[in-house]
Amino acid sequence: MGGMNGESLMRRILDPDSRADPYPLYAELRRTPVCRQEDGSYAVSTYHEVLALLHDPRLTSVNAEQEAADGGRLPPSILGMDPPEHDRVRSLLMRQFGPPHTPNLINDMRGDLEATVDGLIDAFPEEGKADLVDAFAYPFPVTVICRLLGVPPEDEPRFRGWADKLVASIDPRPGEDPAVRLRQGAETRQELALYLNDLVEKGAGRSGDGMLFRLAGDRDAEGGPLSRLELLVASVLLLIAGHETTVNLITNGALTLLRRPEQWERLRREPEIAPRLVEELLRFEPPVQMIPRRGALADIEVGDVTIPAGSTVALVLASGNRDPKRFTDPEAFDPDRPDIEHLGFGSGIHICFGAPLARLEAQVALTRLVRRLDGARLLQDPPPYRSSAVLRGPRHLAVGFDRVL
Ligand code: HEM
Repeated sequence: MGGMNGESLMRRILDPDSRADPYPLYAELRRTPVCRQEDGSYAVSTYHEVLALLHDPRLTSVNAEQEAADGGRLPPSILGMDPPEHDRVRSLLMRQFGPPHTPNLINDMRGDLEATVDGLIDAFPEEGKADLVDAFAYPFPVTVICRLLGVPPEDEPRFRGWADKLVASIDPRPGEDPAVRLRQGAETRQELALYLNDLVEKGAGRSGDGMLFRLAGDRDAEGGPLSRLELLVASVLLLIAGHETTVNLITNGALTLLRRPEQWERLRREPEIAPRLVEELLRFEPPVQMIPRRGALADIEVGDVTIPAGSTVALVLASGNRDPKRFTDPEAFDPDRPDIEHLGFGSGIHICFGAPLARLEAQVALTRLVRRLDGARLLQDPPPYRSSAVLRGPRHLAVGFDRVL
């Protein structure tokens, strides 16, 4: 089965030194589509196998390790739940957020998103140099999620402080104790939940002030209402799930376009290609590179490999996205490809809940950036990356430019 090879490959993929370009390693990994690792876990790297397992009810998302790390402070969110609990809470959240109930909620935010992005670009330093992470991609999504939830603008800086700590808690650093990091993450989640609880208490009875209050007041839905604890856990998840991921989509997007000046120019000339371009980015440089599952109920046969019940399984979305059995010329960035059915948002019952928002945020951010930054160029390529192999993206993206239009 080429086992030895695949085993050490996954270790190299997780190594921070591979972060700038893990794609050649994924190509090697795909030679063993379902590959057993030294520690007994499995890595799945080909498109059809990843997709099939995302839809397989024999895999569970309940993550015992994460619960242990939280020390029982906050119960798991829908991300770590299985049906039927998962479906009940998710559908209550969807009533406030997704189609068919609120198809326009996200689109109605477009003007507000453009204004936020333009405000950030206006504040770029005059000397023609900026870090697109710190000055642009990072502050944008957290501002947006605050507005969506109904966090008052005066509290945004505090909220951002928690977001910073949460991001740090999912970004392992070489040499530090992972237990400390996980505990700090759990503490921050709890602080944030207490703050949100206060907000709901103060705003009790209000409506139309953001998703938090609408959720708290949604008493008539089937399976509802959410308990206060469920509401808080969900809100903390919305912040975490929607923050670092969107930062990385925007930063990966800027990097991809700066490396291909003809694509940068094209988006400037044809802003209407933004939706296709963002879809191709989600295939080509997905912010969530892999997601964990556990084989729960039974052994699972995939091709000629049996994944024993109880095994940990990594579904490598970023590798499936470049599987030549699924995509023609997969290593090329091509927004014109006819079928971009990427795995970047996952698939099946946990498929990303915030996809419409993430797409719009990235479309607006990139379209405004190419329009307004004149003579933009990368000052460091490859840029320094965050260490996480799961939520992958640059830590800084230094660009030079002639002027801001
Ligand atoms: C789930 C990716 C932005 C909220 C997921 C999953 C992926 C993903 C791959 C599936 C996880 C799994 O199956 O275990 C992304 C990417 C984003 C993004 C790449 C940005 C580019 C957002 C935003 C929000 C959000 C903006 C909310 C405002 C969620 C939630 C789930 C989820 C709540 C859990 C859904 C469930 O368990 O049923 N996301 N996401 N995401 N995402 Fe996103």
